[in-house]
Amino acid sequence: MQKLLLYRVLAKYYDLIYSFKNYKKESDELEKLIAKNKKSSGKALLEVACGTAHHLEYLKNNFSCMGIDLNQSILNVAKAKIKNVVFKKADMINFDLKKQFDVITCLFSSIGYVKTYENLEKTIKNFAKHLKTGGVVIIEPWLTKEYYALDKPHMTIYEDKDLKIARLNTSKVKDGVSVMDMHYLIAERGKDVKHFVDRHELGLFEVDKTLAIMKKAGLKAKFIKSGLMKNRGLYVGVKE
Ligand SMILES: C[S@@+](CC[C@H](N)C(=O)[O-])C[C@H]1O[C@@H](n2cnc3c(N)ncnc32)[C@H](O)[C@@H]1O
Repeated sequence: MQKLLLYRVLAKYYDLIYSFKNYKKESDELEKLIAKNKKSSGKALLEVACGTAHHLEYLKNNFSCMGIDLNQSILNVAKAKIKNVVFKKADMINFDLKKQFDVITCLFSSIGYVKTYENLEKTIKNFAKHLKTGGVVIIEPWLTKEYYALDKPHMTIYEDKDLKIARLNTSKVKDGVSVMDMHYLIAERGKDVKHFVDRHELGLFEVDKTLAIMKKAGLKAKFIKSGLMKNRGLYVGVKE
């Protein structure tokens, strides 16, 4: 069973663990993509699975933003950082905000957590329901089977003078779903070293099937291969 400790008890370390990511550069790319594809005239933006809202820190300068996420602990980190954005705890598969947006983003592979095509279809249908006509959805997916390197060891390190974090995992597949047991070792000044094992399971969704699901949901959809991160790409859908 997946635990997702990273978004719960380890949420306070999230921004440190991903400090190698350039959220400012990614947000600039997203804004260009939005400007190129959006047909509606408003500025209402919903970030689904917003995590610590790192993209929203930049997107909020040009959009009226809302963020939703499944985990309250990570939303608390986001709320402590950003004041003029509304945050709400909600599941991307079945949220109902009774509002439509000009832009919906779902980034950094969060969509993979829905795990099955059945859930993917419900989620994308739900995104379409929350979009205005001419509104744009941008989804940064998890890897496809082609790019998911089986049994490959991975390591992420963060360190400053008071805190050292090492995260190691190998990549497995179970019933067509990617499974990663992330081992965290956290050494903090004045505390004992802590060890956590955190399982993450993400669906390996294929491009043609995802595009078909987007089209079925009433979106004019395309896949852009050169996305924000290596080998992930981006889906762009405009509500017709
Ligand atoms: C890799 S993080 C990405 C966070 C953020 N978008 C970023 O770019 O840093 C994945 C996020 O998806 C959220 N999540 C996982 N399953 C979800 C679901 N069913 N509905 C909403 N959020 C979900 C997690 O809580 C976590 O914050």
